[in-house]
Formats: sequence, C-alpha cells, structure tokens
Amino acid sequence: PASDPDLVARARAAKEALGDKVFVLGHHYQRDEVIQFADVTGDSFKLARDAAARPDAEYIVFCGVHFMAESADILTTDEQKVILPDLAAGCSMADMARLAQVEDAWDALADAGVVDSVVPITYMNSSADIKAFCGRNGGAVCTSSNADVALEWAFAQKGEDTKVLFFPDQHLGRNTAVLKLGYSLEDCVVWNPLLPNGGLTTQQLQDAKMILWKGHCSVHGRFSADVVDDLRAQDPSIQILVHPECTHEVVTKADLVGSTEFIIKTIEAAEPGTSWAIGTELNLVKRLADAHPDKKIVFLDRTVCYCSTMNRIDLPHLVWALESLVAGTEVNVISVDDTTTAEAQVALQRMLDLPG
Ligand code: 13P
Ligand code: SF4
Repeated sequence: PASDPDLVARARAAKEALGDKVFVLGHHYQRDEVIQFADVTGDSFKLARDAAARPDAEYIVFCGVHFMAESADILTTDEQKVILPDLAAGCSMADMARLAQVEDAWDALADAGVVDSVVPITYMNSSADIKAFCGRNGGAVCTSSNADVALEWAFAQKGEDTKVLFFPDQHLGRNTAVLKLGYSLEDCVVWNPLLPNGGLTTQQLQDAKMILWKGHCSVHGRFSADVVDDLRAQDPSIQILVHPECTHEVVTKADLVGSTEFIIKTIEAAEPGTSWAIGTELNLVKRLADAHPDKKIVFLDRTVCYCSTMNRIDLPHLVWALESLVAGTEVNVISVDDTTTAEAQVALQRMLDLPG
C-alpha cells in the first residue's frame, strides 16, 4: 500500500529540519515506506562501513535490526548517537547464540584439548558481547558478503590444525566452508547449545574443521529445494539466486548465492528478458521486481515471507524517532558499553581489514 501522505510529509519535514545532523541508514529488507527516507541503503557490511564513514553526523538513525545498530554504535565515535526507531526490531537468529552458551562451548573445546587451535568467527547477526568474545579470543566478525574471505583468514591463523567455531548461522558457515572453501560435509559438526557438550563427543570435536552453531534464520529457512525443482520444471531458463542463509540443499541447487547487495547487483546486471527466482526477504524481492519490469522476477516461495522484525521499523516509528530529535529528545538510543565496544571493535576491524 502507498505510504500515508501525512506521515510522508512529516518525515520529510523532520529530515529537512535536522539537515546534516542526521544520517539515515536503510537495510535492503526495509519496507518501501521507510527506504524512501534512507540516505544510503545497503547490506549489513556496507551499512557498517557507511556508518563508520559519517563522523560528522550527530545522529545515525538505523532502519534495520538491533545487531546492526549495535555494530554502528561500536564503529562510530563516542559523540555520535545511534537510534533504532523500534527497539523490538531484533533478529531471532542473533538471539540463538548467547554469550554464556558460547563460553560453555569454548570450555568444552578446552576440555577436548583443542581450544588453542580454534578461531571463533561470528556472523554480523549476533549481539555485541558475542563480537567482543571473538575480539578477545583471536577471532573476527563476518557478513554474508565476506564469509569466504573471513574463513580463509581464520584457517590461516593457526596452521594446519586450525578449526573454526562459527556462530550463530550454521547455514552460512556450512555453505561457505563446503561450497567456497572446498571442505567436506564430514569436516563440519553442529554444536547444539541446548545439549550437554553441544551433543558432540570429544572425538567429534577433535576431528572437526568447522564447528557450526545450531542457529538459523527462520525467514530463509522457508525456501525449499522442491520449489526450486518446480520452478525449473516450469521454466528451464530460470536462474535461482539465493542468500547464503538458505539451507545447504537449496544453496547447492541454486545458480548464484550471495548477500543482499550481491543479489541487487546481479539483477541490475542481468539481461532484459531473463528470468529469476530469488530466495531472500520479500520486501527486497518485490522492490527488485518493480524496478526491473523488463526481467521476470519471482519469489522463491509459495507463500509470503517477510522478516517480521525488519518490518517493525515502519513509517510511524521513523517519524516518531525523527520528530523526537527535532524536539530535542533522543529516543531509542542504542549504546554499547565501553569494554564491549573496545573488544568488539577488534573483531569488527579484523573484518574491515580483510582483503577484497
Ligand atoms: P545481508 O548482510 O546480506 O544484508 O544480510 C543480513 C541479514 O540479516 C540477512 O538475513
Ligand atoms: Fe535475522 Fe533472518 Fe530477519 Fe535477517 S532475515 S534479520 S537473519 S531473522
């Protein structure tokens, strides 16, 4: 539906009144009504860099989810404030790894006698204290656009015996290790934080190269290999383009896999008349279909699937956040404490320093 014209006018007026004081970042999964007010759009890697590149902006209004706003706060100066228009915009995947659980896994790796060979890598979709854990234990952050380079970096850290503990998304970890770095499925084990010793034997921990956290994205978990087969049967020329949070089965069957930024660039570069099925969040897929009427673009699922937490940021919340700033009140400021910031910065900086 079209945005409420009154709210559009109010958002525009508030942004104008704030001028350069405010910088609005919009993740690709945001609603159209919000994305129209973003000064920049991007995937989580690009937005982290964009936030760090705006030291002049007093306020960063982050239209995305909580872990992204936390990362922006870590990467911006102490004076800058990061605002998340709705505090309920979390990420269920990020919630699947809590610090105490990760520390238990680390202790189990110590008991198995292998912890000195383990490099912890956290997906950007994780809380700040988990990023800090990686910072103080020789690890790094990665996003879906650099997971392969981050894993190559990790496996080069401790010689031949290196193992990676990867959290919270088992699918990104497995897809990257197997399809990009050439490890086998047998090299990967899954650590279930709800079971004693992760549900693994000491021998399994000693033999594994990739220890994958049992976390997943419920949005990307919906895409199925059956739908890929059906679409290919209906249209043999269709190309399947998916996000690496999809299951290994789906990613293995796809033609192309990459971050939201990669998905957009691929469609922009595609020839007119080509047909595509895209496996990622629906706001983005709809926007791509609208922007490219010369290409056939369909959603890789039979039903509707938005990321409900990304969708919590709507125009009323954005207007409220902006108008509050105009009135001199800061609402929903995301602030990471100094110790966590310092340690998480180390892990984020290792990512930003990766080649490519
Ligand atoms: P991107 O880094 O590709 O933007 O993905 C973030 C995310 O939350 C995907 O579900
Ligand atoms: Fe988290 Fe999945 Fe939503 Fe991305 S799409 S923010 S991983 S729940």
